[in-house]
Amino acid sequence: MQRLLAIFGSVLISSLILVGTAIPAVITAEQRKELNQVRDGLGDVDKLIKDKKYDEAGKALDEATAKIEKIVKDAELKPGDKMIAPVQLLIDKKKQTLQKLAGTTKGKEDAADVSFIKQVAPLLNSKCASCHDDNAAGRLRLDSFAEMKKGGKSGQLLQIGNPQRSLIMARVTAANPAQRMPKDASALNNEETALLANWIKQGAKFDGEDETIKLADFGKPATKARPNTPIKISKATGNEKVKFIKDLAPDFVTICQRCHSGNNPRGGFRVVTFEDLMRGGDSGAVLVAGDLERSRLWELINGGPPKMPPGQARIYRGWYNNLKIWIEEGCKYDGDDPKVPLQRLVPTEDELKLAKLGRMTADEFVAMRKEQTSEQWKKVLGKEEPRALETSDFYFYGNVEEGRLKQISGWADEHAKALRGGFKLPDSPIWRGKLTVFVFKDRFGYSEFSQTIENREADPAVVGHSEVTVGQEEAYIVIQDLGDTANSTLPDTRLNLIDQMTGAYLKRDGKKLPEWLIRGTGLAMATKAVGGDNEYLKSMRGAAADALRSLESPAELFGEGKFAPTDMAPIGYTLVGFMVKEQGQPNFMKFVAALQSGSNLRDAVGSVYKPATPQSLATAYLASIGQSTGPAVKKKGKK
Ligand code: HEC
Ligand code: HEC
Repeated sequence: MQRLLAIFGSVLISSLILVGTAIPAVITAEQRKELNQVRDGLGDVDKLIKDKKYDEAGKALDEATAKIEKIVKDAELKPGDKMIAPVQLLIDKKKQTLQKLAGTTKGKEDAADVSFIKQVAPLLNSKCASCHDDNAAGRLRLDSFAEMKKGGKSGQLLQIGNPQRSLIMARVTAANPAQRMPKDASALNNEETALLANWIKQGAKFDGEDETIKLADFGKPATKARPNTPIKISKATGNEKVKFIKDLAPDFVTICQRCHSGNNPRGGFRVVTFEDLMRGGDSGAVLVAGDLERSRLWELINGGPPKMPPGQARIYRGWYNNLKIWIEEGCKYDGDDPKVPLQRLVPTEDELKLAKLGRMTADEFVAMRKEQTSEQWKKVLGKEEPRALETSDFYFYGNVEEGRLKQISGWADEHAKALRGGFKLPDSPIWRGKLTVFVFKDRFGYSEFSQTIENREADPAVVGHSEVTVGQEEAYIVIQDLGDTANSTLPDTRLNLIDQMTGAYLKRDGKKLPEWLIRGTGLAMATKAVGGDNEYLKSMRGAAADALRSLESPAELFGEGKFAPTDMAPIGYTLVGFMVKEQGQPNFMKFVAALQSGSNLRDAVGSVYKPATPQSLATAYLASIGQSTGPAVKKKGKK
């Protein structure tokens, strides 16, 4: 009995611990203080780097890393936790800068040949394959070389010989933790990113025998292949009442794949590709064309036992009816390749959401926005009654005086006019369901918003931001009212408003525009409204020159994850200013429109700045800032 109790007790305790870790971790005041000290200490690192004391700077950064790691350990945070991510990011960025200046990456670049099988595959397999296997997160599979070559939803993953242009490098080095891979985990270390970069630089070669072998299987003794009984697949004629891809595949993916994919599919039955579906599971084929009675899948859907899907999951009547007709019609496949994961054939979550939002009327959209806005306010400053104000384009929500909110709404209406004029927009509201403008009278409100709504610590140098999600489901900007006088580090409120509003406009179509462009366009438009005499705007040139000092070559200017968020304003502002000066505003607007409609940077630059390339644009821009190209900068660093 005693023994039984002990066992029972330990089960109880371990389940308690499980519950405990599900609650977001909280750090103590002491740890928060320490974290702040680490961040403040990073300022000294800048100074060391400036004084070319690279060894000391490196040591200081290693110490900072150790302290962060200790906090993570003590507070039982997940690596990459939102609490520490901003500081981690700063450290990473400074390490990169340091490496470049001290020339240490140079040595690594001439590294010996990288082996895919021996070095890259184990890395991808341990850090990426859990999400990029047949679940194909981002429609990307990284579980075999053959799959990797196909790329993901954004296209090619690898630009042979050119790591800087390779999507995979952009995503593993992204400064923004929301973008950075591996998702929700700590970033790859320098050695790992250098390994990937060198492998791409050396031609991204496959040094094995069979590109389709799973990365996890390299080096394992060859296992007996599954008996590969030929699978009969009948092509649809187009006259069937039920279309597999449209009518059935989406729910096979969302309902069944949870248990019927991965390395150990339940019942030995995989629902990953059409071929898998027809191959069946442990009991053999589960679908018999034209024969409901002999189709085990139908039997189990109809109640089993075991009933599929088990437990709480439910299927829709419509899907059930379609499944029946589809089997009766002979299990026809209306796709091209039965080996393609179904996931790639069905609409993504975003596409489904877009379709749903697309069906909403303008009034429904406005009602949704109103509800969101008041919910968000309640979460942030629940005890404070907001002041609200509504105009045809905006909801203003804030805790500033009524007169101030009116004044701000006047500026916003004025800038809406400027956006309509500049981008030739129709008179209808610029944002579906209007744009919410949160105005906080002090730092407290602003940073509470960042923490409770966006789950991140606000960078002290950031006093405004914009957020527009897919389909404009959410569309808001948040600003801290800083009064009407700018200084060299902080903008005044009107400028901040224009900057963020422009950002929210550029994010409106859901295309991911580069951050420099968003900030640069916003500040350029603000210059027209507030005048170039503004202290904040006047400080941009110097700040840009500082930020650009770490560039090794012009091509790096447009690399993702190159600069800290706070560097984006000065770089964007000076770069946009340069582009407008060179080619005139109409051409610049054309360039923006090209990006908005989905062109890549190279094509967009080429279409407006003929015959320029991003590289030549970068070179000319850097010269205008007084930064000649890379080699000169590097020399300076080596002296
Ligand atoms: C915890 C799950 C997870 C892990 C681990 C993970 N990813 Fe991802 N990855 C995702 C999700 C989800 C997406 C799609 C959303 C997005 O693009 O951010 C994605 C998207 C991507 C994309 C963009 C694909 C495209 O075509 O747009 C790349 C590239 C990528 N991941 C690379 C990697 C690499 C390399 C690793 C390992 C170092 C990795 N991922 C680890 C979940 C993960
Ligand atoms: C929550 C997990 C779960 C989900 C979701 C689920 N299944 Fe299953 N499925 C199982 C398990 C477990 C078995 C093995 C049961 C057994 O053998 O007793 C199984 C077995 C099967 C089998 C039998 C395979 C064979 O060869 O014996 C079929 C067919 C099947 N599932 C179809 C489906 C379909 C279709 C869906 C989606 C509508 C689905 N399942 C969703 C867990 C799941």
